[in-house]
Amino acid sequence: MRNIVLVGPMGSGKSAVARILADRLNRPLIDLDALAEEREGRTIAAMFERDGEAYFRDLESRLCREVAERDGVIVSTGGGVVTRLENLEALSRNGRLFCLRASVDTLLARVRNETHRPLLRGDDPRARLAELLARRKPMYDAIADQIETDGLSPEEVAARILQACAD
Ligand code: S3P
Repeated sequence: MRNIVLVGPMGSGKSAVARILADRLNRPLIDLDALAEEREGRTIAAMFERDGEAYFRDLESRLCREVAERDGVIVSTGGGVVTRLENLEALSRNGRLFCLRASVDTLLARVRNETHRPLLRGDDPRARLAELLARRKPMYDAIADQIETDGLSPEEVAARILQACAD
């Protein structure tokens, strides 16, 4: 059984949708951000602060390779997983990737009041998010299955993915 892997920017709803899919399909859930924090015993923000982004990206790539060894799991990734092609290659080896998309307004509304995202810290999170999205757009666009989530609840997004997997 192939894994179902959710990719997309911060605030696109990957974690919430993955939880619903795991529940509906009765399959294990792997949240790569949560797993990274569990392995390290500290938050992602702490990793960025103390050891820099590259340290976190190396850990993230190792976890992608580990997930590629599993079957039948639902995987929620961090928004920056697309920054390394090797991650996408590993995750697609045994999984179907879905990219969740949303407008900057929607993404920002969903991540507002959350302080654990180190890349959005600073005076102007909107500009920061827009810049990250612009830079990563070609990588998100390259994923075959795209789901536009503006105006959809996590349940509705999960239903579309279930439908796509049943087709
Ligand atoms: C990141 C997104 C975060 C987390 C880290 C870096 C990014 O995950 O992996 O803060 O580079 O976009 P979410 O997409 O779950 O917020």
